[in-house]
Amino acid sequence: MDSWSYVDTDFEESYQLKETLFSTANGYLGVRGSFEEGLSKKIKSVRGIYINGFYESEEITYGEKLHGFPDRSQSILNVIDTQEILIKINGENFSLENGTVLFYERNLNLKEGVVTRLIHWKSSNGDEVKLVFKRLTSFVQRELFLINISIEPINFSGELELISSVNGDVSNIVSEDDPRIGTSNAKALSVVEVIVDSNKSFVKATTEHSKLAVVGSISHKCSAKFDETIEKGKQKITHSFKGQILKGEKIEFTKYAVYTDTRRHENELKQNASFLETSLKYDFKHFENLQKEYLHVFWEHSDIQIDGDLEMQQGLRFNLFHLVQSVGKDRFSNISAKGLSGEGYEGHYFWDTEIYIFPFFLFTNPDLAKNLLNYRFTILDFARKRAKQMGHTIGALYPWRTIAGDECSPFFPAGTAQYHINVDIAYSIIQYYQVSEDITFMSEKGMEMLIEIARLMHHIGHYNRNDKFCIDAVTGPDEYTCIVNNNYYTNVLTKNLFNNIGKIWSDLSIDVTNNLKSKLKFVESELDDFKNAGIKMFLPFDEEQNLTPQDDSFFNKKVWDFENTPKEKYPLLLNYHPLTLYRHQVCKQADTILGHFLLENESNLETIKNDYNYYEKITTHDSSLSTCIFSIMANRIGSHDKAYDYFMNTARLDMDNLHHNTKDGIHTACMGGSWMSVVFGFAGMRLVDGVLNFHPNIPKKWKSLDFKINFKNRILKCHLERNTINIKLEKGIPLSIKINDTIKIIS
Ligand code: BGC
Repeated sequence: MDSWSYVDTDFEESYQLKETLFSTANGYLGVRGSFEEGLSKKIKSVRGIYINGFYESEEITYGEKLHGFPDRSQSILNVIDTQEILIKINGENFSLENGTVLFYERNLNLKEGVVTRLIHWKSSNGDEVKLVFKRLTSFVQRELFLINISIEPINFSGELELISSVNGDVSNIVSEDDPRIGTSNAKALSVVEVIVDSNKSFVKATTEHSKLAVVGSISHKCSAKFDETIEKGKQKITHSFKGQILKGEKIEFTKYAVYTDTRRHENELKQNASFLETSLKYDFKHFENLQKEYLHVFWEHSDIQIDGDLEMQQGLRFNLFHLVQSVGKDRFSNISAKGLSGEGYEGHYFWDTEIYIFPFFLFTNPDLAKNLLNYRFTILDFARKRAKQMGHTIGALYPWRTIAGDECSPFFPAGTAQYHINVDIAYSIIQYYQVSEDITFMSEKGMEMLIEIARLMHHIGHYNRNDKFCIDAVTGPDEYTCIVNNNYYTNVLTKNLFNNIGKIWSDLSIDVTNNLKSKLKFVESELDDFKNAGIKMFLPFDEEQNLTPQDDSFFNKKVWDFENTPKEKYPLLLNYHPLTLYRHQVCKQADTILGHFLLENESNLETIKNDYNYYEKITTHDSSLSTCIFSIMANRIGSHDKAYDYFMNTARLDMDNLHHNTKDGIHTACMGGSWMSVVFGFAGMRLVDGVLNFHPNIPKKWKSLDFKINFKNRILKCHLERNTINIKLEKGIPLSIKINDTIKIIS
């Protein structure tokens, strides 16, 4: 096993799953790993290409629509297909299902960002060819996707035909039996223009409701002098290249595909043509080199090295690679729950971003982290509008799930009711400020978001129970317990915001605070209100048992009958009505335990331990966001073996398809969680009052662990063995940190 690659040698097994695992993306464009030549219908496939943030919006139909329910959906679209290249050898269609496959291997190289497919194939006539397919979605030219094929006739000379297309006749998947996948309208793109300009072809398609347009174009380079004929259909343009090949002589064929869209490109057709033209000046090798250079820099900052555990090492690298492939790098995009690798969850952005993915970028690549917050700023007006729709007279309510900013969650108990998204975003903004000390960001965007979020959270709460600040009728992270009063997680994160906002306000210049005051009609007495609510925040606590109830009523419920729940009934959400779940103590994912992890100083260790033992018994981990948190907190309470078990379920969740649904896309939150499990878990890193703390304890089988942390404009190189850590300053000026509660100066 090589930890820098992911290799497949069985093309027939779980093809759809591998389309996900071999997807290539760059944060703008994502291409599922489908075979260029296709496969017969009997093998299930979802061939797809997605643009981050490119969506169609449909009216949501409800049986009973109540006030404030979102009107319209937003779904990521499968855009114009450019993956197809058919190959005919002496008239016979090349396909892994015909003839004889003498050798097959597919390889995703994590250092190079290229997927390579190596094939030795014999046609039914006995003609043998060696084919090497390479593909990349360029990190450097985000609009560009390339396929490079080399073909070598082994035992014959004869005719070769390559048929390559750009096709606007595409659709999305519709799934009726799994709420986590599928859109309401499968066919959302309409082709409006097909243009052939010399050897370049363009297809333009539009959406009806979101009024967006996308252009996909192709052109080719062939090392042999083949005749090229172009056939223009209504939605598809096909380029055919025909010629003679000689035994032992390789030919090379490169397909250039370029995408532009009206969210980013002012003149989508013209800009597309110009990107295509420029790209054609360079060969595949050029882009392959750029890809390698980009990833070299990425790994330089982001790699985690584990000595002594190849499986986990490979899983981690695979995850971090997919994260950099998935993360939006412009102001229109964020990182969706499935990245750009599939249609699950409709391409929506959730709290997954802030709580699970953001920390990885924050501590390795702060600019990418900042971009995620910038995106939230661009949708702040939508959040203000949403707050009004929801009856709040002040503040902003961020959508539980969205692409362009509108709330798209039709099932409010496990959707809109998750007001914690607001304080999750606030938590990240505060973390970003503490780690980067970027006062410019706070002055221009951060504080405005904090104020609007704080206002909203203050507005939904009220004083009750001996003058405590209570928050009613919300849902915490655990989606098996909905619409509750005083969810510990929501309350403790709100308290964190209320406690911090005043301090950050006082760091801002007078000009900035004056501006904010007039722009937001903000008065400083609001800061006093926040402070007071923070001090008086009600945090549910059961003194008798020394346990934290997930919410006011949680402990009054019956515990789920786990013993009599057969394996095939999991995940429970697919087998029980939500009300059955809500009536029981059963958790889909970490909720209170996550609250403890994020704000550890709010509880003493004894309570945290008790809570861990209690919630562990009733948590199903039906959500992929769960095991990483249990791993981190198992380490915190000293259950190191358990921590490793949970980590195993996290680090290879997609590679080993542990949730059986990776075919619909990767689980980006879990991938971010695998980084957190190592850094916050085994290295025990925490940021406490602006100081980094470490409590290292790496698994016995690991000889060492190495990673880098970007912190306050410094780069720290961390080397761990068992329960020791050695930190070197790679860049920046000395700083103090704490190792096992002892202050150390790193210089
Ligand atoms: C989880 C949510 C998560 C969503 C998207 C759900 O299964 O319960 O917490 O945001 O998936 O990943």
